[in-house]
Amino acid sequence: MSDLHLVPMPRSVTTTGGDLVVDALSETISDELGEEAYRLVVDQEGVRLTAGSDRGLVLGRATWSQVLDAATTDAAGRTVVPAVHIEDEPTHSWRGLMVDCSRHFTPVPELRKLIDVLALHRMNRLHLHLTDDQGWRVEISGWPLLTEVGGYRARTLVGHHGTSEGADAEPVWTDEPHGGYYSQDDLRDLVAYAGARGVQLIPEIDLPGHMQAAIAAYPELGNIDAPIAVREVWGISDHVLAPTETAFQFVREVLTQVIDIFPAQWIHIGGDECPTVEWEGSAQAQEFMTERGLASERQIQREFLAVAHEVISRAGRTLIGWDEIVEAEPPADSVAMLWRPGADVPFAQRHRLSCVYANCATLYLDHYQENPKTEPVAIGGLTTLKDVYGTEELPGDATAAQRELLLGVQAQLWREYVPTDAHLEYMIFPRLCALSEVAWGTRTSYEDFVHRLGNGHLARLDRLGVRYRPLT
Ligand code: ACM
Repeated sequence: MSDLHLVPMPRSVTTTGGDLVVDALSETISDELGEEAYRLVVDQEGVRLTAGSDRGLVLGRATWSQVLDAATTDAAGRTVVPAVHIEDEPTHSWRGLMVDCSRHFTPVPELRKLIDVLALHRMNRLHLHLTDDQGWRVEISGWPLLTEVGGYRARTLVGHHGTSEGADAEPVWTDEPHGGYYSQDDLRDLVAYAGARGVQLIPEIDLPGHMQAAIAAYPELGNIDAPIAVREVWGISDHVLAPTETAFQFVREVLTQVIDIFPAQWIHIGGDECPTVEWEGSAQAQEFMTERGLASERQIQREFLAVAHEVISRAGRTLIGWDEIVEAEPPADSVAMLWRPGADVPFAQRHRLSCVYANCATLYLDHYQENPKTEPVAIGGLTTLKDVYGTEELPGDATAAQRELLLGVQAQLWREYVPTDAHLEYMIFPRLCALSEVAWGTRTSYEDFVHRLGNGHLARLDRLGVRYRPLT
């Protein structure tokens, strides 16, 4: 029923006529329903939510909160809502958002706010990109300099530099240092907060590339003798982990602690954009290749993947990485996060890997959302609200085997050009509302979706204090 303006749209909504005075919600778990399925009925007998599990109840409560937005109050001060019967279940089990906490730190209160809004949209994964060249953001016992040194950079770029749109520009800097990190207690609290709202936190430690901040803290992890600083410009650093027992042990210790903090099934090890130039020039790396009989420097990445996989699988968890891990021949139980154009579900199928669709063509929220001339500076690209709503996730003629491999979809908010919380919300919303409907699997038409946004759903975001980009 369109005047409830539900987002994402449930699978089936039938208004059964008239308005009813309602009391408290009564909740039941029934094993006749799937784990994430729920039924919400408002009729003469009251308001009843039935779900297949606690997870389904959380999802049903999110929809009930949206139905309550249509409530009125009668003369006796009682709550009146439309009689309605909703049957619902998501298509995808992975309904995610990634936030880059490295390039600009995302404070805990902002992450809590994001979790609240994800839950409202029946999204269930928040992937935290915790480490990168420009900042290490997670406290690791025994390695204090990761956060003391690797968590801070002396200055931060303003505007474009060293990207396709501004490669020739002189850099402009703020004199303010930038930094911050999460203590393990911060993260454990956040895990509990998210879990109570049906959202799992997926931690990412990006390796063996994107490691300049860690190498700045502990030069012995790297391939060169000279000290380096936490990276101040964007782009990809050549400074990657050295294939030494010191670095392998570092990976084991970091992942062991991360696994202990985050109970999620999936542990993300990055694996994207790892230059091999330092390995090519390093006598130690060349010797390592000879010892292990490796045919190319790229195969060094496979050795890091094997170390990470061993720790993750021994803990009963699942390794997930960006789709470059495919080139490092990951074990068959790994999951590929498909971000590069061309890395689609048939690509994952060729490598027999489960996957999450996260394509940079339509699911990168750091792209401009409208005309770059009138928008705040962004990394580049153009991904409108309509582009997200219309994103591919599976080709229409996908086979059953391909459908089986796709766990779901995820949007990415990289933060090179997103320095503040307000800007982060502006970039994420309302494009995330569109993604939620893709992930839930109940897209209607773009016109209907925008109608629901403009006539009720954005008001919900206003009530939560979300600073979204207004519709144009
Ligand atoms: C990525 O955008 N490097 C995953």
